[in-house]
Formats: sequence, C-alpha cells, structure tokens
Amino acid sequence: MRFEAFTRRAAEQRSDCLVIGTFERGELGTEALAVDRAMRGRVRALLARGDFSGRAGETLLLTDVSGIRSARLLLVGLGSRAQFNRRGWRRALGHAVTALSRTRVASAALALERPASRELDDFYWARTVAELTGSTLYRVNDLKTGRKPRPPALARMQLGPVSQAGLADAKRGLAAGAAVAASAGLLRNLGNLPSNLCTPRYLAAQARELERSYRRRLRVRIFDEAGIRRLKMGCLLAVTRGSEEPPRFIVLEYRGARRNRAPIVLVGKGVTFDTGGISLKDPGGMDEMKFDMCGAATVLAALDFAARSGLRLNVVGLIPACENMPDGRATKPGDIVTSASGQTVEILNTDAEGRLILCDALNYARRYEPEVVVDFATLTGACIIALGNHFSGVMANDDALARELVECGARTDDRAWQLPLTEDYADQLRSNFADMANIGGREGGAITAAAFLGKFTQGLRWAHMDIAGTAWSGGASKGASGRPLSLVGDFLTRRAGG
Ligand code: BES
Ligand code: MN
Ligand code: ZN
Repeated sequence: MRFEAFTRRAAEQRSDCLVIGTFERGELGTEALAVDRAMRGRVRALLARGDFSGRAGETLLLTDVSGIRSARLLLVGLGSRAQFNRRGWRRALGHAVTALSRTRVASAALALERPASRELDDFYWARTVAELTGSTLYRVNDLKTGRKPRPPALARMQLGPVSQAGLADAKRGLAAGAAVAASAGLLRNLGNLPSNLCTPRYLAAQARELERSYRRRLRVRIFDEAGIRRLKMGCLLAVTRGSEEPPRFIVLEYRGARRNRAPIVLVGKGVTFDTGGISLKDPGGMDEMKFDMCGAATVLAALDFAARSGLRLNVVGLIPACENMPDGRATKPGDIVTSASGQTVEILNTDAEGRLILCDALNYARRYEPEVVVDFATLTGACIIALGNHFSGVMANDDALARELVECGARTDDRAWQLPLTEDYADQLRSNFADMANIGGREGGAITAAAFLGKFTQGLRWAHMDIAGTAWSGGASKGASGRPLSLVGDFLTRRAGG
C-alpha cells in the first residue's frame, strides 16, 4: 500500500474514488461543501431525498460523477456533528476502507472531515489513517482450503487536504502508520497460528527470518534447552518440563544507535500453548490459549518495526518460549525451583506460568544495563476483570515510565491504564518454604503477578504491560488484535527522538 498526502482541495484531487464525510441532518463539512458545489448540488440533493442520512456506519458509493477530478465518490456517514470526535472519526475511517475494499477501486483520495486538531495533530492524524487502513485490510491467515476471495484492489491511499505547513508531519505520520500496520500484521499472523504450528522453535525461526531481512542491524541468538540450563533458568525449565516441544530462549539485538548507548529491553511472554499444566484449565475456550504467546509476538513485531523504520536507538528483545502442559514429568503444585537470579520459588499453581518464564528473562536483561525494560504478557485473567478488553494494564517500579506508556496509548488509541504496584502486594506472595510463592491469592491478581516480576527487576527501570484483555478478541471475530504494537511503536519512535 502506498500512502501520499495532497494539499489541493478534495474536488481537485485525481483518484479512482474521492471519499468525503457528511453529518446527520444534511450538515456538510468544508470539503464536502466544496465537492457539493463542484457537483452542482448533487450531494445535497441526495441528502434531501433521504438517499443518504449521514448516520455513523453508513456509506454510499456513487460511480457516475462529474464536476470533480476523481472517477467515483464515496459518501461516509459521520453521525451527529455536535458529537463528532476522534472515536467517531476512526470508526468512519474504518467503514470507508471496508467499503473501498469491496470495490475494484485501486486509488482513493481520503478527505473525511477531521477531528479537532487539539485531539489529533497532523502527524497522528496521518499515522492513524495509514495504520487503520492497513489494519482494516488485514486478512486472517486462515488455513481454509476453498478458493480465497480476491484481495482488495486498493493499493494507493491519498490523504488530504494537508496544509503546506503540516505536509512534512503528515508524510512522516503516514510512513510511521504504514510501518506500524505492517509490523502489526506480523504480530497478528503469529498470534492467529495454532500451537501445533507456532511452537517455540517456530518463534525462533521467525526471529532468524527477521535477522535475514535486516542484515547487519539485527542480530539474533537462540538458546536451546541445554543453553537454557547453562543460563540456570530454573523457572523457565520448570514450566517446559511437561512438554514434548523443546523450549527456546530467543535474543534479538537491534542496533540503530552508537554501541555504547544503553538499549531499551523488551521482554515478551512466549507460551505457545497454556493448558495450565497440572493445575489444568477448564476446557471451555481453551483453544484461545494459543494466543498466550502474544507478548512474544509483540516483541518480534516491535523489533521488526524498529528495524523497518531505521529508528536511531538500540533495542533488545528477549523471548522465553515454551508450552505449559500436564505430563508424568510435569512440575507439580508445591514444587520448589531456583530462578536464574538465585531466588527460590514455590510453584503453588502451575497455571501461573507466565511470570515464571518472564522472571528468568527479566534477570537476563540486567547484563545490558538497559535504559528501561518493558515486558509484555497475556499474564492474568484478573487484568481482564479489572480493565475489560479496552485497556491494557501497566504496572511499574518507575512512575514516569508508566506514565510515558499510558500517554503513548492515549495518543494512538491503543489505550493502557496504570494499576498501583506497592510493597503491600508483594507481601501476598509469602511462602513458608521458599523465597516466594508464584501466586498471591485472588485479590488484586493482576498486581500480585506484577509484584512477583518486581522481585526480579530491582535496580532496573521497569514496566510491565498485561495484555491479556487486549491482545485478541474472542467470539465471532476471534483473532489477534495487533495490540499493543501501536503503543509500542509510538514509545520507540519517541524514545528515538521523533
Ligand atoms: N495465560 C493465562 C492468563 C489468561 C487467562 C489470559 C485468560 C487471557 C485469558 C495465565 O497463564 C494464567 O493462567 N493466569 C492465571 C493466574 C492464576 C493461576 C494466579 C489466571 O489468570 O487465572
Ligand atoms: Mn496459565
Ligand atoms: Zn499463560
């Protein structure tokens, strides 16, 4: 997909299809008014006859148009003018791209009314258009054997009108959004693959694939089970024990800045299937535990994004990858293991496995003396109870870092919310037999999980993102969402200095 910005008036822009928005009750924005004039009142006439109401979600394609330079006109409902905001605009944009994707239109000029600039400046406006266009056109990598539907013809999207002063920002925004969409596609493809295909070895092969794509800037190192044992990652080994599928510990190093600049370390939970182990899960909906590697996929996609965008900073990705299975040899409740940090852990519930594999990876992060460490994990059902499917959870031992992540989420509509992480929660992890237990009771379950990780990140600037509620959707539209890559892309871009 090619993205371009245009500065002339919408009616003057040449494309296969011009896209404009109209509000309810026949109210038109600036560009729509000008288009109506150029078309000798055709738009108003349509509205007056009731052929188009302007309600949110409505679209109407006119294929015989004159007076404008584009060959077709797509009208998109924007809803009530008084209530028009960024959310409504995003939805209208999604409907517009969906409508275009059902036609043979190859190039579109998008001139929808914009939300107020204090809600969305030129950079983020353009970034959102490119990102949403890409994500709307994403097709699930299904394994259906029938004939595939024809892919959409849309190959070129022009955005405008952009003011001369905003042109450079808009172009940068389009490039950033296109990169986010491409990397989010990788994240979603990995998430959607079933666990018999997307194994720890498959994730490692994907990392190698990235290394091949971005030669010189990206280096990958992969530890097999023997290597993991040499690293003394006793907690990761405890989780993988019950599985026939060999584990991997994957290290990716992206170098976009000078060698001595401290890197940002990103850690991702890579449980390619979570049965719960001996603390076996209920069968209902267990298939969705193939998505339990979405943290790992976020890290792979984030490195892909950094390398694709040539960001001027150093980023390290760490991915502990394994399955959590019940077996005759599997770890049992009450077993005590020694983490790579030397601390001992009593595994009271084998279904609290994410924190076990993460703690060893977080300990590995120390050797980089990182600027900051952020981990991504589909860690707790409790986080879904707390925040629903709308916000990812953020917990940190550094409030400024937590705020930074929350703000990145707000700017990109990939929202996150901070939960408190004080010493009170760590007390819930007390064990009579080891340095700590791996669970802390029902109360504040998302936070006690973070408190467990906090015992391995002392002295580091660290934040944890619980993406259990946001990384995928269930039900009829089951599939990986691509979140939180938009947030992470913004975070890395800003850390790189814009
Ligand atoms: N992967 C799950 C968390 C999860 C559950 C994510 C449902 C999305 C949907 C995690 O490994 C897990 O099982 N957590 C337990 C922790 C509990 C045993 C303390 C949970 O949330 O129930
Ligand atoms: Mn689990
Ligand atoms: Zn899990």
